[in-house]
Amino acid sequence: MFSINSNERLAPYTSFRIGGPASFLIEADSEDVLKVAVEYAHHKILPIFVLGEGSNVLISDEGFKGLVIQVNIRGVEFPEPNLLVAGAGEHWDDVVAMAVAKNLSGIENLSYIPGSVGATPVQNIGAYGTEIKEVIEWVEAFDPKTMSVRRLTNAECRFGYRNSLFKSGDGKHLIVVRVAFRLKENGAPNISYKDLALYFSGKHNPTITEVRQAVIDIRKKKLPDIKEVGTAGSFFKNPIISRDAYTALLKKYPDMPSFPTNDGKKKIPLAWILDKVCNLNGYREGNVGLYKTQPLALVNFGNGTANEIKNLAEKISNQVKEKTGIEIEWEVVAVN
Ligand code: EPU
Repeated sequence: MFSINSNERLAPYTSFRIGGPASFLIEADSEDVLKVAVEYAHHKILPIFVLGEGSNVLISDEGFKGLVIQVNIRGVEFPEPNLLVAGAGEHWDDVVAMAVAKNLSGIENLSYIPGSVGATPVQNIGAYGTEIKEVIEWVEAFDPKTMSVRRLTNAECRFGYRNSLFKSGDGKHLIVVRVAFRLKENGAPNISYKDLALYFSGKHNPTITEVRQAVIDIRKKKLPDIKEVGTAGSFFKNPIISRDAYTALLKKYPDMPSFPTNDGKKKIPLAWILDKVCNLNGYREGNVGLYKTQPLALVNFGNGTANEIKNLAEKISNQVKEKTGIEIEWEVVAVN
């Protein structure tokens, strides 16, 4: 199937429900259509933006002057009993449900994360003590420079905290078409994350089905429901600071929590700073605000604009900087 829409408003394609028009929009449900779409962009000298389910983007009110390609390549296969290969356009949580139903562990902690399979390596999605990089075996991506698909190993994807090759200069142009996840048959679940440990306190050895349900319950309680309010989940990354900076901050804020990183630094839960230091839970400005039970999630209560979100984000960044000296970064991808 190949159809091209011009001047299509992007807001309905995003979970923030924000965003002006794309000059052109093509839905690519196969590699062949993807190729034609890229050829079209090359021919018309248009920049390309690749959209999945739009759950981690803030598209400007002016929209995108170029070609938006919505990758909708489907299909789930098991070439080996514990190797799950899914098309980029598959809905992520359906894939998790499928793995759990087959008693394959490794992604149950990533239940109920909105978005498509294609976005999982780009963002190196993570939640409740698991990051997708731990189970990705390979990623197949279409390279518009060579007009062909190539397979990248886990190491080639250069995963970091909410980061990967696909977000950086030399890999930004790559378009994910398929991802392979190496799962474990009858593997033991990881319930070490505080919220999960609390949920299961007293109960030993939960099944992965129970862990999936626990994650869904916890997320439903804390995070806004994208069917009800516009949001892209965590708007900022949790900041990573030096041990010395953390020690200095403890003098001012003795209860500030932290998590050690592999390279000897400290990751600070920004939600704690927004809540306990800045007192911003539930703060609202016009049509936008910070969610009451998880202030890291900025929300559009309806009719919010990208400019309103940007202004609010800037205010928040300034406050955090003023009170803690920490410079925070967006986790959400800005599309201009
Ligand atoms: N906290 C508060 N007040 C609040 C909420 C949280 O003080 O109102 C503090 C608590 O100390 C809590 C800590 O913040 O223990 C961490 O909160 P939470 O467990 O909700 O996790 P997070 O660090 O805020 C990250 C991810 C989420 C992911 C959760 C669960 C980032 C940017 N965000 O949030 O991912 O679901 O962990 O593991 O790393 C997303 O990326 O969109 C996303 C939602």
